[in-house]
Amino acid sequence: AQARISVDPDRPIGEIHRRLYGSFVEHMGRCVYTGIFEPGHPAADEHGLRQDVMELVRELGVTTVRYPGGNFVSNYRWEDGVGPVAERPRRLELAWHTTEPNTFGTDEFMEWCRQADIEPMMAINLGTRGETEAVELLDYVNGTASTQVSDRRRANGHPEPYGVRMWCLGNEMDGPWQVGHKNAEDYAYLALSTARAMRMVDSGLELVACGSAAWEMPTFGDWERTVLDLAYDEVDYISLHRYVDPGTQDRASFLAAGVDLDRFIEGVIATADAVGAKHRSDKKIMLSVDEWNVWRLSEWTAIEGTFDPDDWPEAAPRIEDRYTGADALVVGGLLISLLRHADRVKAAAQAQLVNVIAPIMTERGGRAWRQTIFHPFAIASRIARGRAYDAVVASPRTPTERFGEVDALDAVVTWDEDSSTGSLLALNRSLDEPVELSAALGGLGVSRVSGARIIAPTDLDAVNTADEPEAVVPVPHEVDLVDGLATTVLPPASWLAVELA
Ligand code: AHR
Repeated sequence: AQARISVDPDRPIGEIHRRLYGSFVEHMGRCVYTGIFEPGHPAADEHGLRQDVMELVRELGVTTVRYPGGNFVSNYRWEDGVGPVAERPRRLELAWHTTEPNTFGTDEFMEWCRQADIEPMMAINLGTRGETEAVELLDYVNGTASTQVSDRRRANGHPEPYGVRMWCLGNEMDGPWQVGHKNAEDYAYLALSTARAMRMVDSGLELVACGSAAWEMPTFGDWERTVLDLAYDEVDYISLHRYVDPGTQDRASFLAAGVDLDRFIEGVIATADAVGAKHRSDKKIMLSVDEWNVWRLSEWTAIEGTFDPDDWPEAAPRIEDRYTGADALVVGGLLISLLRHADRVKAAAQAQLVNVIAPIMTERGGRAWRQTIFHPFAIASRIARGRAYDAVVASPRTPTERFGEVDALDAVVTWDEDSSTGSLLALNRSLDEPVELSAALGGLGVSRVSGARIIAPTDLDAVNTADEPEAVVPVPHEVDLVDGLATTVLPPASWLAVELA
């Protein structure tokens, strides 16, 4: 079957914000402990930061990292994680039923970000805490005046403020599983007054209000409307979280997960803009898709709540999904969907970074390797920069149980004027039909293909392991370009990344 792509060079979707390639580090399972941080590991530096993981994080091209949760943050006392390590308290960690040793905290995270050249994105606890603690954390992190709180940072060996710009006002506060879960009105008032207090410290902060933890939440829509109606002028972003579970749908629907993310994103934009219109506001609220990924969520919900009340392990494995070839294609498709909304999605965080539903896996004391989903992210973050363009696709259709017939081919085109380089990212969602693709890219000024790689797993269930880390990897692919027309063939179930110059 044949598919055609055309791009109007005068109609970009928008600038791709560098924060679109964000990730997420939660104090959960082995993401921090034995993930990014493992004192005594042969590859750890004097701060206990694993440099083997650090190298993979750099290769992944992550630009910003949300921290420290997640569900964890809603019962977290940030003060527990600063100061002399020997004096830090051990606490019950309620969200994931573990013990939190607090040997890693805000200053260690900032050091990790510094080394990785990553912008920190902080989340504050609006589950069990409020304005006072938020302002104190802000003062600890960014404070320039001499106060009791910011002097603690100095006394802890960090004279310079960290200058964190982006702050999430809580996490998934619409979820009944959240410690301190609230209804929309209560959360809206707390978010508003916390935002106002934080802006009294620094009016230039970028603040994210919690939107829906999932599209399926019964409160979806009403929640966003209520929160934004009250806090429209005080926040810059509304968050949305999307996890795609291969265990609850047919494979064709799973490969078409971008359809579902497109609808979710567009639903949030419509809701935010309806509130903006009601307020007669010129301001547009941006979207922070600050948790997204493939997650076998149904496997977690089956065991959630079954933990032994006497067993509170430290750094215990939690949701360590082993990603397949099919999962890599879906992550590639979700990236296309995010890029297609680059005008409004100005931040995103793949959840999470290491071990916990993560592109990077580690062994305690041992090796680190790339999961299958590492590859589409690493490629996109490197080549899909500048502006995103709507790729108008004329495509054969393919059947799915959830969405009916969808375009077999999904694609986005990017072009960066500064470097005169760009990309074409394309997913063939059909499980059995190849797609012959021709893409008219000349209008953008494309003169050559400087590289092309494809993920086309022969076994969609194959996984990368420490012993066999390259079962699913991208391989070079033939793409021709004549007079601005790129032509190639995508085999069934494949994700292609073409580098343009
Ligand atoms: O990323 C795992 C969890 O998923 C996060 O803690 C929470 O915010 C979401 O439900």
